[in-house]
Amino acid sequence: MINRRKFLEGMVVVAGSFVGRRAWAQEGKPTLPAVISTWEYGQKANAVAWEILSKGGSSLDAVEKGINRAELDPENDSVGYGGLPNEDGEVTLDAVIMHGPPHAAGAVGCLKRIKPAISVARKVMEKTKHTFLVGEDATRFAVKMGFKEEDLLTEKAKKTWESWKADPKRNSYWSHDTIGMVAVDAKGDVTAGCSTSGLSFKVAGRVGDSPIIGSGAYCDNDIGGAAATGNGDVMMRFCPALVAVELMRQGKSPSEACAASLARISGKGYEAGGALVAISKKGDFGYARLRYADFPHAVRNAQMDEIRKGR
Ligand code: GLY
Repeated sequence: MINRRKFLEGMVVVAGSFVGRRAWAQEGKPTLPAVISTWEYGQKANAVAWEILSKGGSSLDAVEKGINRAELDPENDSVGYGGLPNEDGEVTLDAVIMHGPPHAAGAVGCLKRIKPAISVARKVMEKTKHTFLVGEDATRFAVKMGFKEEDLLTEKAKKTWESWKADPKRNSYWSHDTIGMVAVDAKGDVTAGCSTSGLSFKVAGRVGDSPIIGSGAYCDNDIGGAAATGNGDVMMRFCPALVAVELMRQGKSPSEACAASLARISGKGYEAGGALVAISKKGDFGYARLRYADFPHAVRNAQMDEIRKGR
């Protein structure tokens, strides 16, 4: 069975700062460097990012390499290699990376046969004057940049897809998780990124929120950054990562900003599930969740390396 997230009944937005003072007490004093990622698997991604950050490396390298950890894991069925395919049985990937100092970003959508989508997104940012490449042309670009073309469909993902095809109630299997990561390095430079294989069994050609700048991830080097996971078809209509960063600019804490951003989605009557993680330029962590019963996310700085349950 696909590891689907549970949804709560009713309109529910929960923010880290509203969980109780205990959540804040655990955070200690904000320090740099710092990194936050979505879901339990974010902890392993954070470990790779921390290797770079703790040695004075850049948040750009940390976010790219940290997200690669999830993308290359065949057991992760919602990101990169091992991700669940579209309705035709083909795995397609979406990713974005945004780097604070130049306020630059690169993104790929519906990328095929290349495992580290976030690294291709970085090449788009650094090696072209463009921001977003899609589909087979994004794959051709990646190959030109030296990436290897490979089959992304693992045996396990293929079997899951085959069961889905054979199930007359198959729509009930749809799921969408994402790795979103935001890091601030010792210099105070911010990078945000997001990568996913998108909604499982999606209509071929579908691109979700993850590679959309301001939706899947966003950062401003003066403020901090945010990244999203959840129902991308709805979330991209609200640019929730951008909104969270702008609310932080107005003085809200990261958790308050995430909650207020997600409240715009529930406020319009949508029943979509989703969550945001955010970090300020000073290293304050925060999150909020909408309709998820739980939202585990991983935080790391010099004082902590933990998965927060996010209840
Ligand atoms: N948030 C991932 C997706 O919907 O594609």
